Amino acid sequence: MKIAIFGGSFNPVHNEHIKVAKGAIKELNLDKLIVMPTFISPHKKNAEIISTEHRLNMLKLAFSSEKAVEVSSYEIDKGGISYTFETVTHFKNLYPSAKIYFMLGSDMLENFPTWKNPDVILDNCTLLLTERRTGEFNDDALIDKIYSLYGHRVERLKVYGETISSTKIRTQYKLGLSLDGLVPKSVKDYIVNNSVYESDVYYEYIKKVLPIKRRIHTAGVITTAIDLAKKLNVDVKKAELSALLHDVAKYEDINNYKGAEIKSDLPSDIVHQYLGEYIARTKLNVTDSDVLLAIKYHTTGRANMTMLEKVIYIADLIEPSRKFQGVEKLREEINKDFHVGFKVCLEEIIEFLKLCGKEVYSLTLDALKGEIYE
Ligand SMILES: [Fe+2]
Ligand SMILES: [Fe+2]
Repeated sequence: MKIAIFGGSFNPVHNEHIKVAKGAIKELNLDKLIVMPTFISPHKKNAEIISTEHRLNMLKLAFSSEKAVEVSSYEIDKGGISYTFETVTHFKNLYPSAKIYFMLGSDMLENFPTWKNPDVILDNCTLLLTERRTGEFNDDALIDKIYSLYGHRVERLKVYGETISSTKIRTQYKLGLSLDGLVPKSVKDYIVNNSVYESDVYYEYIKKVLPIKRRIHTAGVITTAIDLAKKLNVDVKKAELSALLHDVAKYEDINNYKGAEIKSDLPSDIVHQYLGEYIARTKLNVTDSDVLLAIKYHTTGRANMTMLEKVIYIADLIEPSRKFQGVEKLREEINKDFHVGFKVCLEEIIEFLKLCGKEVYSLTLDALKGEIYE
């Protein structure tokens, strides 16, 4: 008997999860795939976790036609922090003769040695790598590392999932964007009918003032900024709010905001960063100075930027809907090493502006001057 455990916050479950689950069942000829929403994930301290009932209900809808799938509430019923060693031991005791797989992505595999009782986990199950993070992780090296540390081979699926982001789905929903192609229709209807994800005044405002095209860009900036913030230990909530509001003034007429006292000789594509800060502060009553600064300098940068400012600047530049030539290379640089990548991005932008015969704003040159990471 072969059983795989597929854990996660599933907030919400989406099409990549389903693809990976089906792929695992087929490739490994599984008798059972246990889908297990976590109660509190020790690996995702910052996640906004919605009611367990909604997560379970959405999973049941998503997998209703998959006979081999069992949606388990074991970790939720148990309560407290869900440690993998406890979960796999529980299922090994339940199915002593079965081969048990535990599915995980590259980012989790990288942190595996820091998990509680890794030896106990590996005595009770086989790790199964299921997710690809292009350019970010060297999966072969990670698998070799686990083997040299513990003497157990990690297996991997041929059908890998692409980088999965429930954050993207929540963000798209809160910005009034389509969820088509991201979640099954039954899950989409459930989210809508049960108001699973509530937006706040800031999301509502952005939904009103930005057209769909700009909201798609904003959603990309939010998800990229949240990812970067988590990796770099930057406040995730501040990153989300700054990203959400960064282009709030993109379609505003400066003449309607005399009180903003923005210089009249500024290049037009720079005005919106200052006006955005003004609107966030005066109209939306944002008081957090870190957030206001991240909005205020998101286009030009400036000398001695904070990490939050850099995260927003970079997220704006490389978010997934950006298609300019060379963007892939910049994404790779940022994934490899944020600090080096940030400098490379500034250099590329300055080079690009010069090539187009556009004015390089002095603040951007100041931003580069401070970056010495040789
Ligand atoms: Fe902008
Ligand atoms: Fe932007």
